[in-house]
Amino acid sequence: MKKIAIYILLIGGIYSCKDVVNEVPDTPFGTTPYTADYAQSILPPARVPSDNPLTKEGVQLGRMLFYDPILSADSTQSCASCHNQAHAFTDNGLALSIGIRGAEGKRNSMPIFNLMWHLDGFFWDGRSDILRHQALVPIEDPLEMDETIGNVLAKLSSSSSYPTAFKKAYNTSTIDEELLGKALEQFMLSIVSGNSKYDRVQLGLESFTDQEKVGEIIFNSEAITLNNEQNPNKPANYGADCFHCHGTGNGLFMRREFLSNGLSSNGDFGRGGVNGTAEDNFKFKTPSLRNVEKTAPYMHDGRFNTLEEVVQFYLSDMNATSAVNTNDAPNLHALKDSIYLSPDHKAALVSFLKTLTDEELLTKEEYSNPF
Ligand code: HEC
Ligand code: HEC
Repeated sequence: MKKIAIYILLIGGIYSCKDVVNEVPDTPFGTTPYTADYAQSILPPARVPSDNPLTKEGVQLGRMLFYDPILSADSTQSCASCHNQAHAFTDNGLALSIGIRGAEGKRNSMPIFNLMWHLDGFFWDGRSDILRHQALVPIEDPLEMDETIGNVLAKLSSSSSYPTAFKKAYNTSTIDEELLGKALEQFMLSIVSGNSKYDRVQLGLESFTDQEKVGEIIFNSEAITLNNEQNPNKPANYGADCFHCHGTGNGLFMRREFLSNGLSSNGDFGRGGVNGTAEDNFKFKTPSLRNVEKTAPYMHDGRFNTLEEVVQFYLSDMNATSAVNTNDAPNLHALKDSIYLSPDHKAALVSFLKTLTDEELLTKEEYSNPF
């Protein structure tokens, strides 16, 4: 009960946030509204910041900035260097990102899509409150782009294309920090993933294979120990408890919370390291499982290389003594080491996860390098 109340409060808090609205806000100065293409999907209504409505000009400007190495000190790194469209905007199969001059980062790069539905708490530890602030952090990070915002503004201001592009999008050719953040925010908010096989099945346009159907049941069922009457071949009798934290309910495959899934610690305190709250130690932003087929390796430190390894971790290695909240995955937690999925059922679960791959996201021209 308490949990439900907190959840409602949280959702209420997000939706009542005053600079966020549900409809597409009016677009200023003769700009053309940009309508993200998800009306025909199962995604819920999106929320766009009312002080940065999406416009074609703003999204296009953000796209140029996202793909432009001009944002880094030595012009070698763009945002796209570590957020590659073909990998659902994660790094190119690297556990830890490699930034400027070969510097190794501390965490696994995160996917960029459906951020319109996040809006609060960016990075694995949620240390950036809103996206336009987040967008400036990698520029100054010594392990990523190692540039100063001042230098970036000077370089953009003296370039041949950016003053005009800012003028079109924001009605001023004076480029400042706020507009730089807002333009990157617009492009990133425009990236939507809602056209996977899973979506098309929900919309009645395609059907799952028998194996995928079994995987879906396992994903959405509690982990339990069998009693004598139960049939071990029936997937619902031996679920994998995934839905508690990566629920299918909102179409996002993520809970908008920082949680622990029982990974052994690598010394990274996650959310607790940011807010100093002991009970948030080792909690991380719960990732969406959309496009997981393309985002390997997995977890905040990229410790698992395959989805099979991830599934095996949840079944046998999940660390019950860590910060996992028993309410979050009651049975997965309690039944540690006693959960069993047959090899067929494991393969079915993985095949279900692969139905979340959205080829349109990976190839759509609007999200690709404009240069
Ligand atoms: C050197 C690699 C690298 C570069 C360059 C880079 N990123 Fe990232 N990005 C990462 C990593 C690693 C994380 C996770 C970091 C963390 O949690 O501390 C991340 C996280 C993010 C997130 C958080 C997503 C979420 O769901 O919370 C966004 C958004 C993002 N980056 C956008 C950008 C933008 C915009 C740029 C360019 C200005 C950029 N990144 C440049 C590696 C990189
Ligand atoms: C208690 C909540 C919880 C449950 C239950 C849970 N997860 Fe997770 N999952 C998380 C969190 C939190 C992370 C991020 C952990 C980190 O990196 O520290 C995560 C990460 C993942 C990732 C890595 C995603 C990425 O982008 O790196 C995959 C894949 C995944 N989970 C799949 C599953 C599957 C399959 C199940 C069911 C067997 C499951 N999860 C059950 C909370 C949960």
